[in-house]
Amino acid sequence: MGTTKICKVSLRGGDEVEVCLDLGQDGEILSSTLTGIGGPQLLSLLSEWRGKLKGRLTEVALPSGTTSADMMIRELLLKVRGEWKPPYTDEELCHCRSVPTKIVEQAIVMGADSPEIVSRWTSASTACGTCRKDVEALVAYRKKCA
Ligand code: FES
Repeated sequence: MGTTKICKVSLRGGDEVEVCLDLGQDGEILSSTLTGIGGPQLLSLLSEWRGKLKGRLTEVALPSGTTSADMMIRELLLKVRGEWKPPYTDEELCHCRSVPTKIVEQAIVMGADSPEIVSRWTSASTACGTCRKDVEALVAYRKKCA
């Protein structure tokens, strides 16, 4: 008897991808269903994902790039394997500017590849600077290649 794993990955602006993986007894990915709410960019990401979800779940190579699709596939695979351990998990990251962690993460996935750009896009870490190390840690974690 196989299992089904469902995982959600969010994008900036409320776009969201839900991935449903049906796994065989040996962990082989039998089928994948990807659904999303969003525009053309999301549809393009979904088609990029599809071809990479093959073989045994534990043996699917983590993408080594830093495109949005690479980061999202990495997040998906690590989540369904139970290995997703981001360095900061509180709901709000920047208390001075009331910036939720989710907004910072979405900015990174959508291309904010340095703490400076994250600050520009989200206003996180633009006051006292206490949260700067958490922004840096999240950027590094999201960009980390296996
Ligand atoms: S907590 Fe983010 S700038 Fe102060």
